[in-house]
Amino acid sequence: MTGKLWGGAFDKPTHAEVEKFTASIGVDGRLWAADILGSQAHARMLGKVGVLTADESAKIVAGLEAVRADITSGKAVFSPDAEDVHSEIERLLTERLGALAGKLHTARSRNDQVATATRLYLRGEAQSLGGDLRALQTLLADTAEKHVETILPGLTHTQHAQPVSLAHHLLAYFWMFERDVARLVSCVERVNVLPLGSAALAGTSFPLDRKMVAKDLGFASVTENSLDAVSDRDFVVEFLSDCAQVMTHLSRLSEELILWSAPEFGFVQLDDSVTTGSSIMPQKKNPDVAELIRGKVGRVNGALVGVLTTLKALPLSYNRDLQEDKTFLFEGLDTTRASVRLMSLMLSNASFKTERMAKAVEGDFSNATDLADYLVRKGLPFRQAHEVVGRAVRYCLERKLALEALTVAQLKELSPLFEADALAAIQPLAVLHARTSEGGTAPVRVKEQLAAARGALTRA
Ligand code: ARG
Repeated sequence: MTGKLWGGAFDKPTHAEVEKFTASIGVDGRLWAADILGSQAHARMLGKVGVLTADESAKIVAGLEAVRADITSGKAVFSPDAEDVHSEIERLLTERLGALAGKLHTARSRNDQVATATRLYLRGEAQSLGGDLRALQTLLADTAEKHVETILPGLTHTQHAQPVSLAHHLLAYFWMFERDVARLVSCVERVNVLPLGSAALAGTSFPLDRKMVAKDLGFASVTENSLDAVSDRDFVVEFLSDCAQVMTHLSRLSEELILWSAPEFGFVQLDDSVTTGSSIMPQKKNPDVAELIRGKVGRVNGALVGVLTTLKALPLSYNRDLQEDKTFLFEGLDTTRASVRLMSLMLSNASFKTERMAKAVEGDFSNATDLADYLVRKGLPFRQAHEVVGRAVRYCLERKLALEALTVAQLKELSPLFEADALAAIQPLAVLHARTSEGGTAPVRVKEQLAAARGALTRA
């Protein structure tokens, strides 16, 4: 005997280095509540099918409840020498119930136990991450609502392209996060399947009622194959891939806030509470939070690749390699959640410099397409219109003029098709209002978009 759950056949104690190397309590300790829930459902079911007596089952369920209370109150602390969270909960239960605690592990293995606890835990965390994303989306929609007519230069290649509204710009991110939420919801469908009852790898000879356990724990169904159930972590891969996508979206928004807060743009001022100073340059207010969100993409991508690499070429069924999944899962989850929340915090008190945005559109030729479109409406083929307006731009550049500052006479020199209304058509606000195609930046369209966004927020 070695004092281990599995010590019966062992003559020698485990080497101290091996204990350290194989232990996972430092990582999987946070699964404790999920582990207890899973064990209680298992015990209830064993009682119902008669593997345990009703009395034994009730005592184990109550004992686990007491262990939960002890952990919550801090009365029970995990031993640093524990192997993993599962053995540690069983140890705490044994302290209370003595030998009876040993009946809980009937028809169960840590292999199906850990898969169950991980799925239970992840189900809740994925839903709560979805909630954090919903809060960020709400903030984006609320902010957009105030800026349907706020004009700023829309960019392609980081060059001024055509004016857009700040609302339109912010809502672009709303839809990215909308797809991220949908991906998480879909991921949870595959997470929400019960592996318990698969035992070590092959199932068990005891007459289990797996559907009862699934119902008890809120799982939608039970796994179809015990070998698959104890050995795949594709749901962790999928979740981390969803996190990586969230982080990629956040990094784009971060990058824009970083650029916009640079004096060359001056489109946004981040609040003192979310910026940090420099130890040498007294004038500095740095967008470190945005930079760190951008930087932390590496951690989440690393976690995704880490778990994929851990799973690669693993033979069926359970292998201890799988214990590594949780390090990656928690790293990806924690980083993504913190990043979403910090992005909300940063946006909630950012002040958008709308005059500066409007100024940036003046004389920037981002209305050139509209001048060409004007000629097209007069019957000129677009290619020729493009050419005419190209000459107009050169004319302005040579004279340091804004396109919208040309006189009708000057325009007529470039093409006899121009009339006085051409100038009205290329004022920034007119340009914005003109983009009325579905999904365009015109305020009437953006208001529809906002209504659609609000509708999406009311759905799960
Ligand atoms: N701590 C392990 C894990 O997270 C579960 C233990 C399974 N151990 C075993 N020898 N089968 O994967």
